[in-house]
Amino acid sequence: MAKKKSDHKSTKTAAHADGSRGIDIGIAAGDRRRIAEGLGHVLADAFTLYLKTHNFHWNISGPMFNSLHLMFETQYTEQWNALDDIAERMRALGYNAPGSYHEFIRLSSIREEPGQAAAPAWHDMVQQLVDGNEAVCRTARKVLKTADGAGDDPTVDLMTQRLQTHEKYAWMLRSLLE
Ligand SMILES: [Fe+2]
Repeated sequence: MAKKKSDHKSTKTAAHADGSRGIDIGIAAGDRRRIAEGLGHVLADAFTLYLKTHNFHWNISGPMFNSLHLMFETQYTEQWNALDDIAERMRALGYNAPGSYHEFIRLSSIREEPGQAAAPAWHDMVQQLVDGNEAVCRTARKVLKTADGAGDDPTVDLMTQRLQTHEKYAWMLRSLLE
């Protein structure tokens, strides 16, 4: 005979599910939820772009190899370090961060690029990374507006930093195609 399941319910799980218990940092619960949801999209976009940039670092070939191999490495290293700040901001707001490929694909506005298939030409790689950096900017700018309206200065600061970086990378990459 199967053992009857315990009626005990974990209040900890419930608190994590809605992110609303035990946190009073001066931001309304609804604003915290909206900001955290937006940050989940920023994290998914940023992770997808990070992976694509690393993919292109590995699979670049042709006359631009040396300069782009190095440029992509500089960019993906900076992006990798920033992922942690975005995820941990979500945790500070009371929400869990997405952490699986399945979640990132669902939440991201950037389409991933397979690595083992025939690699795109260098200029297609650069164009994809211009588009990816611009996509992160659009997603981050939405969260910045929400955070600004809610008085969430740490998220405004983080999104401002991410915008500065991704707008700069988009410009540098775009310049290669002019
Ligand atoms: Fe490498």
